[in-house]
Amino acid sequence: MNILIKPAQIKKQKPKDEKELGFGSIFTDHMFTMTYNAEFGWENPIIEQFHNISISPAANVFHYGQEVFEGMKAYRGKDNSIYLFRPNMNAKRANNSLERLCMPKINEKDFIEAVKKFVEVEKDWVPRSEGTTLYIRPFIIGIDEKLAVNSSKHYLFIIIASPSGSYYTNGITPVSIWVEDEYVRAVRGGVGFTKTSGNYAASLLGQEKAHKNGCEQTLWLDGVERKYIEEVGSMNIFFKINGKVITPKINGSILPGVTRDSIITLCKDFGYDVEERKISIDELITATKEKTLEECFGTGTACVVSPVGKLVNKNESFIINNNQIGKLSKKLYNTLVDIQYGRIDDKFNWRVKVC
Ligand code: COI
Repeated sequence: MNILIKPAQIKKQKPKDEKELGFGSIFTDHMFTMTYNAEFGWENPIIEQFHNISISPAANVFHYGQEVFEGMKAYRGKDNSIYLFRPNMNAKRANNSLERLCMPKINEKDFIEAVKKFVEVEKDWVPRSEGTTLYIRPFIIGIDEKLAVNSSKHYLFIIIASPSGSYYTNGITPVSIWVEDEYVRAVRGGVGFTKTSGNYAASLLGQEKAHKNGCEQTLWLDGVERKYIEEVGSMNIFFKINGKVITPKINGSILPGVTRDSIITLCKDFGYDVEERKISIDELITATKEKTLEECFGTGTACVVSPVGKLVNKNESFIINNNQIGKLSKKLYNTLVDIQYGRIDDKFNWRVKVC
């Protein structure tokens, strides 16, 4: 792929205090764009000044939601090398999402090359402080100007990036979760396994309800029986019960997280039995009552590993592991970020050096 690079004429000031970065609110100088039309496929890849885009108010994405996105990070190692983490998984998942939403796939090599080149151009924006990263947001939108419900024939693939700190304002401290038994996030056969904006829009009301009930995140149950645990907020979820690690099996309505997959591999490597299976809310409540639930944590690119310290189900609330970070959660977090930042050996070949 031949990416045209037009260096930005206007350079923004980089944030002085990296402790104040927050998540996803500052954007770098450049953006990557590639266009698609049915006749020529994906073409005209360019990296240029970050700018507002102009598309028709009748564009498909605004009305019928043809949108797919990914979340990735670039990490600065001690020697100033810049790394990506398993970008092949994001490229693959993007294509699975694109296929489900009747959108054109992107050659995986081109997807990875675009991200690498873009990060190389923005390497000075990869922050330096502990726990900070350059969060990368590739996304694809349908832009046909037409109100008939059809898949678009024209698309934009855009990559933007944001130097970011911890996803949660309080860093890696335990969060509280609200068991949502009224609203659901996704159903099997739908688009729950894709990274598309509608899944996140569908989750907002549940999140508001969680906040009203004094919790930070929503624990989503399955869309049919509202019985089996699916995800938490925008993360996959793990439980350590009686020494075993349990996580809901990928079933079509759960997002197949890159961090989820990495955590399963690490747990097995640490010698834990990992069960990917259905786990009902009743089983979880019983485990909390019988004190066999030892740890609970969410995983995701943005949050990495986020311990859960409290579970609220209807009128009952349960404290997990004294509302402390569990030993396993901490070890997983440390190991994963050490691999991502190039601080330890990468025996699974997950790290990809950009420059
Ligand atoms: C990620 O973990 O990268 C996500 O995409 C979650 C997000 C919606 C912030």
